[in-house]
Amino acid sequence: MLSAIPPTVTGPGLINTIHQEMVVNLLLAYPYCYQMARLAVVGVGRIGGEVAYLASSMGIANELVLYDSAPELLKAQVLDLQHTGLATDISTDKRAIRDADVCVFSAGLARNPSVKTRADLLEANAAAVNECAALLKGFNGIVITVTNPMDANNYLLCTRTGIPRERCIGFGGQLDSARFALSLNSRGITGFSFVLGEHGEHQVPIFSTHSREIPITLREEILTELRGASMDVIKGKGGTVFGPALHIVNLTRMVLSNARELVICSSVLEGEYGIAGCSLGVPVRIGKEGIRAIEEWHLDSWEQEKMDQAGTFVTDLCRREVA
Ligand code: NAI
Repeated sequence: MLSAIPPTVTGPGLINTIHQEMVVNLLLAYPYCYQMARLAVVGVGRIGGEVAYLASSMGIANELVLYDSAPELLKAQVLDLQHTGLATDISTDKRAIRDADVCVFSAGLARNPSVKTRADLLEANAAAVNECAALLKGFNGIVITVTNPMDANNYLLCTRTGIPRERCIGFGGQLDSARFALSLNSRGITGFSFVLGEHGEHQVPIFSTHSREIPITLREEILTELRGASMDVIKGKGGTVFGPALHIVNLTRMVLSNARELVICSSVLEGEYGIAGCSLGVPVRIGKEGIRAIEEWHLDSWEQEKMDQAGTFVTDLCRREVA
């Protein structure tokens, strides 16, 4: 039950303290290098490049293995990282990926203003999923799937590699939850801000934990805002970078430090929330083994209906690619 998590508001204007605590934990991690932590990044474009830079500069990883199908970009990213003067070992030998502690999969096409939804990228990114699955043969670490449609791709990567579901973490829920916090804050609503469901059109913002009843019309208004949040960034600057990259590095920190913190991530479901055959955003505890536990929260009828729709939608996407 969510009520087990104590609210920790410490000052006016501080809306989502859980997210802020996570960022503080990330910054506190800064002086402590996770010695011998090797981070692989498959696809070093906007997101992958920033993740490599942040993880290296914040001392989260002391070894990087970088891979991209565009050799000129890969070379440029390595040089740019080397020019920081940071003492991070950088390898571009893709065989070293399988020995990484964590592998971030961020290869493939991103949305632009003419690609309406993340799900529209399914076919375009199928080759990148297959290539990443081949690179991860014999991998014993934790995979963090970023490439969209992230939930379906996390499921496909898990089934194609045979990596246990605990070690396949889909990234997106932290970002959606941070955007939800902003939406609530702008309306003067304080409290928890967690978004379950699909990292896409079928997001499930959780309102039932708020002490104040949030009417359905307002819930739908906020949901519409959440669906459009990343497109505003994409239209303005070509793609999202800072938000996803910082949260991905934070997730990496949770794995490497065995943090056991509660966070929303996409996990392959086997009946949790009444859903199976896909990966979906749910509350999880993250540690060095990956997803240590999935929490099953009580949802109200609006939330449960949205969660069921998300499950049906992503399961259909997964079936399309498996077929
Ligand atoms: P980008 O275009 O800047 O970088 C993608 C990189 O992948 C490129 O450098 C490209 O050469 C490389 N690539 C493509 N196919 C490859 C393959 N088969 N093997 C290796 N490398 C390959 O795109 P960006 O903005 O970095 O986004 C990457 C992915 O992450 C997209 O699918 C995007 O939609 C997704 N994304 C997901 C988020 C989330 O919250 N889950 C947030 C932001 C982006």
